[in-house]
Amino acid sequence: MDLNIDIFVSYRRSDAEYFATLLVDRLASHGYSVFFDHDSLKGGDFRHSIEAAVDSCSDFIVVLSPDAFASRIQSENDIMRAEIARAIKTGKNIVGIATRGWQGFPAELPAELDALRWVQYISCGDIEYREEAFRRLTSDNDYLRSNPRSPGVSPAPCVPSTPAAAKQVRHSNKYWENYADSSKEEIWLRDQEVVLRDFDRDVYESLLSEKSGLAVLDIGCGTGITLMDRLGSRPEVTHILGVDSNPEAIKTARARYQSSPKCQVEFEYLDSEAPDFADKLEAYLRNHDLDGFNFVNITMTLMHLRSPFAVLSRIRRVLADGAQFFVRDIDDGLNIAYPDENNDFQHLNKLVGDLPTTGCRTDGRQLFGAFTHAGYKDIRLRKSGLSTVGMEFDDRRALFEASFGWLRGDLEVRCKSDESNESYREDLLWFDDNIDAMREKFQAPDFFYQEGYVIFTARYCKERPGSLRR
Ligand SMILES: C[S@@+](CC[C@H](N)C(=O)[O-])C[C@H]1O[C@@H](n2cnc3c(N)ncnc32)[C@H](O)[C@@H]1O
Repeated sequence: MDLNIDIFVSYRRSDAEYFATLLVDRLASHGYSVFFDHDSLKGGDFRHSIEAAVDSCSDFIVVLSPDAFASRIQSENDIMRAEIARAIKTGKNIVGIATRGWQGFPAELPAELDALRWVQYISCGDIEYREEAFRRLTSDNDYLRSNPRSPGVSPAPCVPSTPAAAKQVRHSNKYWENYADSSKEEIWLRDQEVVLRDFDRDVYESLLSEKSGLAVLDIGCGTGITLMDRLGSRPEVTHILGVDSNPEAIKTARARYQSSPKCQVEFEYLDSEAPDFADKLEAYLRNHDLDGFNFVNITMTLMHLRSPFAVLSRIRRVLADGAQFFVRDIDDGLNIAYPDENNDFQHLNKLVGDLPTTGCRTDGRQLFGAFTHAGYKDIRLRKSGLSTVGMEFDDRRALFEASFGWLRGDLEVRCKSDESNESYREDLLWFDDNIDAMREKFQAPDFFYQEGYVIFTARYCKERPGSLRR
């Protein structure tokens, strides 16, 4: 079976998923057809699927990350091992690309992988080296055998059995690692926090009404501004734990909010996708003599996770019976601009969707399934779409900045990451040429814009032993 693939990217999900996503985006933007998705290989006879995919490619890139050849590689059921073994057996052109922390191959490798020790590889440590490595990979003829199909165009990476739109493909999105100054994110998060205050208000009111003694968990709290605005001075709340995987954001949140007179507030640097996430939360509950969290707040974060389902499932054991969820997220399918005679807003939203830094832009529609599969009850879509109707100047400004104000920075980062990429440069030029006129248009009282924010609520109900189920 020929799957029509140029390049197969093999990587270890535990420490190289984000790197692999950037690499695949780059290769796709240069016109290569790329295969890299492990998800589609789960279940069924994965060896068969791997064989078909590897057999079909000309080039096989293996991401040499610190975890790549850790103990898992010794297992015959390891997917990465099976991928590499097949590539070696079928004589593929194998190129290694070493990430930060790579210390070389271990002394013991399964015999079928031994030939890997002699393949050529490119090293890249920090961001600049990474960019240089990507540039060499795509411009030197020494590495890849396959030719780009249509240079300069950006076909979606080839991900069998998922819809065509690249931004429905999820990955752990540590976007802040690409920013020289991650504190800049605060500027648009503040606009977002302000413009969404009214949007959120009645939902919070309904969830908090007649409650007391609530222990709140906020996942992806950032610098804490939204969390503390919504819940920091509520009389119903006694404990707040905000967690985030960006250490800088946690430092800022601690400096700002550690001492609240209303309730006990703490911020922890934790990755919600780490396997020991729930253990760490359990330790917090023990230290505070709490039975479980009663309220889980997650705003604009699930879109950045590889698997919201996995996180929602993992935290069940740290929740109190009846715990409430408030989740606000995004679905760009709900964005509407009218009038948009030249399709400028449509184009702007496409730029947002094309960037590797913006998370899963169809997350809103995926949340119902994620909550359902993770066993939650009373799942409700409370709001969908925040529009300019009824907005005055300041709110319109804030909505525009929250939706697009940060976009230039991300386009610039992408340009710097590949200075030879014409289409990246053109996108930035187009943005600079058009953004002021669009900002002005946004302020016209009869211009209608809707940004696809969604709010979901759900409840956790403890299963009672012996209860009858139909
Ligand atoms: C768009 S910001 C939202 C911040 C805040 N919740 C708000 O609404 O203002 C997304 C946040 O999720 C955090 N994040 C992303 N992946 C995470 C993970 N795996 N675990 C914990 N936090 C994560 C990011 O560091 C970032 O602070």
